[in-house]
Amino acid sequence: MASHPLVAAFQQAGQGHVFAHFEQLTPGQQAELLADAGEIDLAEIAELDRTLVQKNAAAGLDLTDLTPASYEAFPQNGGDAAAWAVAKAEGEDALRAGRVAAFVVAGGQGTRLGYDGPKGTYPVTPVLKKTLFQVFAEKIRAAGARYGRPLHWFIMTSHINHAATEAFFREHGFFGLAENTVHFFRQGRMPAVGFDGKILLEAKHRIAMSPDGHGGSLRALQRSGALDLMQREGIDILSYFQVDNPMVRFIDPAFVGWHLRTRSEMSSKMVPKAYAGEKVGHFCAQRGRTVVIEYSDLPKERQEEVDPATGRLRFIAGSVAIHLLDREFIRRMATGADALPFHRADKKIPCLDAAGNLVKPEKPNGVKFELFVFDALPFASNPVVIEASRADDFSPVKNAEGIDSPKTCADDQVRQFTRWANAHGAALPMDATGLPPFAFEVSPLFGYDEDSFAAAWAARSDAPVIAAGSVLS
Ligand code: UD1
Repeated sequence: MASHPLVAAFQQAGQGHVFAHFEQLTPGQQAELLADAGEIDLAEIAELDRTLVQKNAAAGLDLTDLTPASYEAFPQNGGDAAAWAVAKAEGEDALRAGRVAAFVVAGGQGTRLGYDGPKGTYPVTPVLKKTLFQVFAEKIRAAGARYGRPLHWFIMTSHINHAATEAFFREHGFFGLAENTVHFFRQGRMPAVGFDGKILLEAKHRIAMSPDGHGGSLRALQRSGALDLMQREGIDILSYFQVDNPMVRFIDPAFVGWHLRTRSEMSSKMVPKAYAGEKVGHFCAQRGRTVVIEYSDLPKERQEEVDPATGRLRFIAGSVAIHLLDREFIRRMATGADALPFHRADKKIPCLDAAGNLVKPEKPNGVKFELFVFDALPFASNPVVIEASRADDFSPVKNAEGIDSPKTCADDQVRQFTRWANAHGAALPMDATGLPPFAFEVSPLFGYDEDSFAAAWAARSDAPVIAAGSVLS
């Protein structure tokens, strides 16, 4: 066994225990273990052990010289109305020219929601219970029709859910999208290590591997050939969003226009934080660069700091994980000298003990390594941040109950539909939060944003009647 070059390399790196049970494995299991091991960059793990694991958890995090990031405010909040109008027109031109593709990161494990399948298969709409993937697919179909160019859609999965995700789209006929415009690719994996830096096994023939974080998307886009495909199709901007947020406006002409006008290589939407401790990243400036500092990393005092001039939170710009990325910027990040840094997450990782028995730990016993896409921002030229409206862009499903849950998300969708309908004379009753006493639903195929809704509404000869359970489609 020791003659296998991988085994020798692991032994040399002090990770020989990975093959401790090798002789007891069937040939098939041996092949599986070797395949897992083959994905691991031992020098990278040794470096991460030195720089992240053997330091305290916050090591490597630089919180010096942080100031709030500036952003392009909405005209109603003091922004430049003419510039927003020009941006929108330029973005529409880019959409008509087919320069933008959609990109969802859907490789995460969805543990907080307590849902087993791929998160995109989770039902979210208030009446028909359409899944997240169906909502996105219908927005893409509708935008394709609106701009006269079918949009391509890239979907990043992970080893955990790749097959199930593809099967789901097949079962549902790709929700009416042309199959050759929907592109699945798998993100990379990283091994988990114990606090002693030793790679953990989840079975005698399996290394404890997990997805490498949404930042792994940049190298996965390159490796999978997605960037080359974009180039062949004349697509130069990727519209990045997370699978947990059905309200996301990922086809947003003004956003595209701002990105183009400012020659930004990576652009972002912010929403003003709802309260100091909201669990979102914070857009900050740091020595002339734009950075995102996670809620878990920004000290509480800074999260709560108030700007005396405005009385608002000083670090107000919350990241809703919506970005535009230039194709060639992604290629540079994936292949050039600039690399995203790994973050350390201490987790409870079921693994084999020295005797080869599976242990389910009660407290964190090891470290997972993850890349974050927003860590690309400091490397981007002219990164612009624009204001977005929470009510129109952000209501994620993260928890089974309470905030950011299926219930809050369904209610937020109904509020949005109500605003749109009432703006056109529907006169629906609503409570102080804008919620009517019944649920109804607007299909993205009818309207996926205010403009498309207005156009569809105006095209009807009679005003639609809206009651409990109505569906506008
Ligand atoms: C994330 C952001 C936070 C932002 C918030 C908005 C991070 C670390 N934090 O928090 O700044 O304010 O969303 O909702 O991202 N994913 C993968 N592969 C992975 C890991 C994640 O594709 O390896 C995808 C997930 O499927 C999901 C998204 O990334 O679509 C977000 O992941 P999640 O871990 O849920 O992030 P949050 O902690 O909610």
